[in-house]
Amino acid sequence: MSDKKRKILVTSALPYANGPIHVGHLVEYIQSDIWVRFQKMRGHDCIHVCADDAHGTPIMIRAQDEGISPEALVERFGVEHRRDFADFAIDFDNYHTTHSEENRELSILIYQRLKAGGHISSRVIEQAFDPVKNMFLPDRFIKGECPRCGAAEQYGDNCEVCGATYSPVDLKNPISAISGAKPVSRESEHYFFKLQDFEPMLRAWTRGGHLQPEVINKLDEWFTEGLREWDISRDAPYFGFEIPDAPGKYFYVWMDAPIGYMASFKNLCTRTGLEFDAYWGRDSETEVYHFIGKDILYFHALFWPAMLAGANFRTPTAIFAHGFLTVNGQKMSKSRGTFITARTYLSHLEPEYLRYYFAAKLNGRVQDLDLNLDDFMARVNADLVGKLVNIASRCAGFINKRFAGKLAKALPDAVLFQQFADAGDMIAGFYEAREYSRAVREIMALADRANQYINDRQPWVIAKQPGRDAELQGICTLGLNLFRVLVGYLKPVLPLTAAKAEAFLNSDPLTWESCRTPVTGTAINPFTHLLTRVERPTIDAMLSATTEELESMNTRTPTGPLATDPIAKEISYEDFAKVDLRIARITKAQFVEGADKLLQLTLDLGGETHNVFAGIKQAYKPEDLEGRLTVMVANLAPRKMRFGISEGMVLAAGSGDTDLWLLAPDDGAQPGLRIK
Ligand code: 2FM
Ligand code: ZN
Repeated sequence: MSDKKRKILVTSALPYANGPIHVGHLVEYIQSDIWVRFQKMRGHDCIHVCADDAHGTPIMIRAQDEGISPEALVERFGVEHRRDFADFAIDFDNYHTTHSEENRELSILIYQRLKAGGHISSRVIEQAFDPVKNMFLPDRFIKGECPRCGAAEQYGDNCEVCGATYSPVDLKNPISAISGAKPVSRESEHYFFKLQDFEPMLRAWTRGGHLQPEVINKLDEWFTEGLREWDISRDAPYFGFEIPDAPGKYFYVWMDAPIGYMASFKNLCTRTGLEFDAYWGRDSETEVYHFIGKDILYFHALFWPAMLAGANFRTPTAIFAHGFLTVNGQKMSKSRGTFITARTYLSHLEPEYLRYYFAAKLNGRVQDLDLNLDDFMARVNADLVGKLVNIASRCAGFINKRFAGKLAKALPDAVLFQQFADAGDMIAGFYEAREYSRAVREIMALADRANQYINDRQPWVIAKQPGRDAELQGICTLGLNLFRVLVGYLKPVLPLTAAKAEAFLNSDPLTWESCRTPVTGTAINPFTHLLTRVERPTIDAMLSATTEELESMNTRTPTGPLATDPIAKEISYEDFAKVDLRIARITKAQFVEGADKLLQLTLDLGGETHNVFAGIKQAYKPEDLEGRLTVMVANLAPRKMRFGISEGMVLAAGSGDTDLWLLAPDDGAQPGLRIK
């Protein structure tokens, strides 16, 4: 082991249980997973916990929209998230949920300790209230016209059209995004955490080496603005934990979310016998690190240490914040088709390509990073396939074919090997400091040297010359040993490839130490393919699938049990009369190349034809549709989709995918006939 055995607890931010994991999220989980794997390889006792962030209004509303309980929704996303993480080789020691008994108990305990310390206050505040749904409305559930530019349908406190920021009460003609009702103002008692009580403690803590330098500057701004008390309660109906002695009041999701880190750890303690207080007790000497995105710094660098200190727990050793991901230089966006989910990525590309690409770009600062797909392809192909795997594939064949898989008994150039082994300390320093890009750069420079060594010695020439077998075996043995060191150094980033390489080299799982000791005289196994090149069509297919997923959502194919969807806001007869519903004959139905969900329909309205893309591929075969009648919205404005222009919409009902039925009027009706 490299130094004293450390006890380390690492957390990654808890993803909300109402949406898929996407490549933006993965920056963080890949960053933390690499760090934890590195620590484990060094022989430290390092534990990584996470959980789903289960509470809050958006999750409650989404569950209502789907006609299921919030618990069921959280369960479903929990399964999905775990699968995504596992398939990206993100290896949590425990993955829990904030809607757990451990979290309820710890949240109540922390609240009660804060209250006993005089750090909780209460007062009546006024808030927007939805009189139809009988609930208070968070800002993002109020929409209206922008007070500056008048743009319609703007949510919460900023306008997506002109960029203005304002208070939701300034929105013109505000309506509840849930019911469509006009919000009214209503009073309610709220509970507050008195953050300002902790100003001296926080000022000292923020300067105590727990934060990145740029974060300290940000905090200074917040101190200058003044610390204010934080509203930690929400009124029923709310999906969360009820506050003790305050019926109908719930902890705000952001109050119990970070406590979820402790709760997930506690759940692990119960399963494994680990001691909770050794990690979270006031005098704990273990290290606790939180990996987070820069957007949630306020919660982690101010509220969280203050809550912990006020409740007599230890504070974190450090907060590691990272920047945001852009894709091809721009903010990830649904309309640009760059909102790539973990699952869509995995359907087309190897997880380790992305792990490697992010590692090659990540550093210890709070910097945004770009996923440039051309660069991604070039980098993976050049570094992983062209440099790393190439070393092994150039040497393995000779060892296997000419020496029955046996490595030479000694290395011909021990100095070169030693240089590789010695680089390990510097590379370890880079991993420790989360300077992965520098670690990767060093490792790739070594890979260049290994390839250079093979180029210089030309084993393929020696192989043809009689009497030079020992030399050939030596060169290839050294080449494979250099490869083995590099695989060890890259193992935190490429755990799956490392496992395959270990199998091929017939090696025990590599540790930071063991990869730096050469193996000689042993037998290796036949070389198996480790990583293949990324090809442009694969990336294009992933982007098409991303776009298509969003488009099929936009075609309003219902998801979930439609019958339980709440009925939409009432419209006037005049509104309804604007919709021109017509009988149409499907004269042609065909698959759309590259689309999983869409069919392209040619609809005849009695002379006039419309081209429509409909998300019904899973429910109908094209040949079964041709010639049939259906009902369509004929006057819908044409929409540009990735595959062409869609000029209308066919009407269907069902819960989606295969469970979908087109409206099929009796034969005999005339195409083009208006439905009244
Ligand atoms: O911003 C988010 O996605 C939150 N769900 C992160 C919570 S991290 C922790 F505090 F629980
Ligand atoms: Zn505006």
